[in-house]
Amino acid sequence: MVESWEHEEVVTRLGRRSGVPVTVAVHSRRLGPAAGGIRLRQYPTWQDGLTDALRLAKGMTYKNAAAGLPFGGGKTVIAVPSSVSLTPTLRADALADAGELIASFNGTYLAGPDIGTGPDDMVYLRSFTDHVFCLPESHGGTGSSSGPTARGVLAALRAGLAAVFGSTSVSGRRVVVVGMGSVGSLLARELSAQGASVVVADVDPAQCAGYEQVPVAAAYSVAADVLVPAAVGGVIGPRVRAPLVVGPANNQLVSDDVAAALRDAGVVWVPDFVASAGGVIYTLSREASGLDREAALARVETIEETVATVLASASTSGTTPLAEALKLAEQRLDTLALT
Ligand code: PHE
Repeated sequence: MVESWEHEEVVTRLGRRSGVPVTVAVHSRRLGPAAGGIRLRQYPTWQDGLTDALRLAKGMTYKNAAAGLPFGGGKTVIAVPSSVSLTPTLRADALADAGELIASFNGTYLAGPDIGTGPDDMVYLRSFTDHVFCLPESHGGTGSSSGPTARGVLAALRAGLAAVFGSTSVSGRRVVVVGMGSVGSLLARELSAQGASVVVADVDPAQCAGYEQVPVAAAYSVAADVLVPAAVGGVIGPRVRAPLVVGPANNQLVSDDVAAALRDAGVVWVPDFVASAGGVIYTLSREASGLDREAALARVETIEETVATVLASASTSGTTPLAEALKLAEQRLDTLALT
């Protein structure tokens, strides 16, 4: 729940073409223009979409700050009602409505893809606003951010494995990937290639072909070495059984106090806003700061060191990885904002 008003600017508008409520939430611009993806999915009510946008935008403030990026946090949520069917026409209309709303921010909010949107949608959105990222390379962009996001998770995973098992190798470990979307499926493939025994779960069983499967409802508490949340958030409670949790999903914890419960249960949870930053780091380093591919990927790899530092400080000071990651982000928010 959002406890008190802390966002800089939030606009929810009923799309004039689609009738779908679209929210752009800007949590903070202290470090620069707000940046964050466009989520398009079905929600029971428009309030659920708004609540998600508020949480996700705040998460982006911490994600960008912890990653040392000169950007604030924002997010767009296109909240298609669960009661209607998402036809291609409705989807296109809703994207157009979102494009128009994003344009009205005049570059103080920069949008990329998120769950439910991809590089081709960004091409369409460019006809409404310049302030969208991740167009395909054929359109002069840097393409999908899913690959770099997955690389960032693998970097975070190495640091987590070193802290929990004393070795950065995932070979021979049983890993559960929950959510076989664009990032989860890349992770499942790469982890298998690295010798892990991979178990997957997805609401759509067709996405799980080729892997041992567990039902989504059971996946978060299955016995495994590593749990990789790669779907929607609000899923990690205190009953996780894997000793290491690290994945690309945003806002993973059911609530912030789960961080302490996990620590007390001996579970190492790598803060989501650190582990999932590979996509924004790569895309913004390239498209906004002009780095080349290698330099941008090298920046993504620094997630390993950030996670190692966060986990080490949490264990020496007896706090939680969440507290240490928040401290890191807040230090950046305080110091970078002054320069
Ligand atoms: N979906 C991305 C995230 O949650 C947001 C994003 C990716 C924004 C790439 C811009 C570019 O971090």
